[in-house]
Amino acid sequence: MIRRASEFWTERKVTWYRRALERSDYAETVLGVLAPLLARCRSALDVGAGCGALAIPLAERLGQVTAIEPAPAMAKALRERAHARGVRNIEVIEAAWGDVPVAPHDLVLCAHVGELLQPDAPFLRGVASVARRGVALVRDTGRERDKFFFRELYPLWLGRPYISGCEHEETVEGLARLGLSPTVTFVSYRSDQPFTDLEEACDFWEEYLGLEGEPLRAFLREFLAKRLVPDGSGWIAPYPKQAAVIWWRVGGPTDQRGGAKR
Ligand SMILES: C[S@@+](CC[C@H](N)C(=O)[O-])C[C@H]1O[C@@H](n2cnc3c(N)ncnc32)[C@H](O)[C@@H]1O
Repeated sequence: MIRRASEFWTERKVTWYRRALERSDYAETVLGVLAPLLARCRSALDVGAGCGALAIPLAERLGQVTAIEPAPAMAKALRERAHARGVRNIEVIEAAWGDVPVAPHDLVLCAHVGELLQPDAPFLRGVASVARRGVALVRDTGRERDKFFFRELYPLWLGRPYISGCEHEETVEGLARLGLSPTVTFVSYRSDQPFTDLEEACDFWEEYLGLEGEPLRAFLREFLAKRLVPDGSGWIAPYPKQAAVIWWRVGGPTDQRGGAKR
């Protein structure tokens, strides 16, 4: 069963997520791919905006951004970051997609929101009704490396393989069934996770595994000491990430919605 985003994104996980973003080239990489689309846009709707990794830099470029984000801890972090950067043209709607009506925006963006990017997700069918100029989706690729060593850790500690969610091919297949043939641009960026010390790193893995206890902690201390990389006075979990930016134009002479089933 998929855990609700509001339960999954605890304050602590959001703090770690923000710290990784602070040193990541994620936003500049993804928005670089979308430059031709952004040139035609004055507003954007970021669905599942998280703490604003893309919504905030978009608000710095465009006239108006709306961020839909159901997890209270993420929405709070988004508001705080926007405030700290003096970004005022961003509206945060604390809700899940489909729970509230949303007005059309020039660009609709949805990055790394697993449940909305499944091939049969209602979001893929509904997005055309709120996008005036373009849609951009960001998804992990099949070339994704071992996220936080889970592929190694799950069999070792849980005795089962780590099954990751759907990848970009499935989303593209879902779009093809709707008559859409988007551009797919592969990107690489850093998503390294910093930690102040090994104990904090153990907290991180305990939280993500949803387990705790001294035997696990002892195992993690030894396991992580061999895999994390010293970084200043702390450590990082190196995470070179690969993603697919799936995007298409809406409206005008290049409209590709003609054959879409609604
Ligand atoms: C992995 S984070 C990605 C955040 C941001 N898009 C980014 O790229 O950094 C996924 C976000 O999607 C949100 N989310 C999950 N289900 C959602 C839904 N049904 N509607 C809108 N947002 C959702 C989560 O709360 C979380 O903040």
